[in-house]
Amino acid sequence: MAINWVSQVSFEPKLLGVGIEHAALTHELVTASGCFSLCTVARDDRAIIRKFTKPVDVDFAAMTLNGFAFHDGATGAPILDQAPAYIDCEVRQSVEVGNHTFFIGEVVDCGFQMDEETEVLRMEDTRMNYGG
Ligand SMILES: Cc1cc2nc3c(=O)[nH]c(=O)nc-3n(C[C@H](O)[C@H](O)[C@H](O)COP(=O)(O)O)c2cc1C
Repeated sequence: MAINWVSQVSFEPKLLGVGIEHAALTHELVTASGCFSLCTVARDDRAIIRKFTKPVDVDFAAMTLNGFAFHDGATGAPILDQAPAYIDCEVRQSVEVGNHTFFIGEVVDCGFQMDEETEVLRMEDTRMNYGG
């Protein structure tokens, strides 16, 4: 899913929090698997965002998510091949906050798949917003 409610919440251990709406398929997947991965998007790759605002279409034979190539991370969560960087987490806490769950995951793996200086897409580049 496209997501921007994300924050680092501890550095020892390294914990990352993600706010996911109850109705999202991703909520079901994170709850069932106990893990999630976060992929950054390159600044010149803006079009990919729209493709991840609907429940995902997975092709296991082709190893694609919505047509984009992925591989399995250390936790088994999918990592997009074209992501400049990824963070792979195991869920440690799930905090219920209104119609979202704030999943707090411990970082078990992370890495760059592009040059570390690659510019990353920011919310203001998308001309979209998320929030009530
Ligand atoms: C720019 C952008 C940011 C978003 N941020 C979030 C977010 O932080 N949390 C969330 O639950 N949904 C967020 N969404 C909405 C989800 O991407 C959308 O509900 C998606 O359909 C969920 O997919 P899923 O049902 O496959 O999990 C955002 C959407 C956009 C376009």
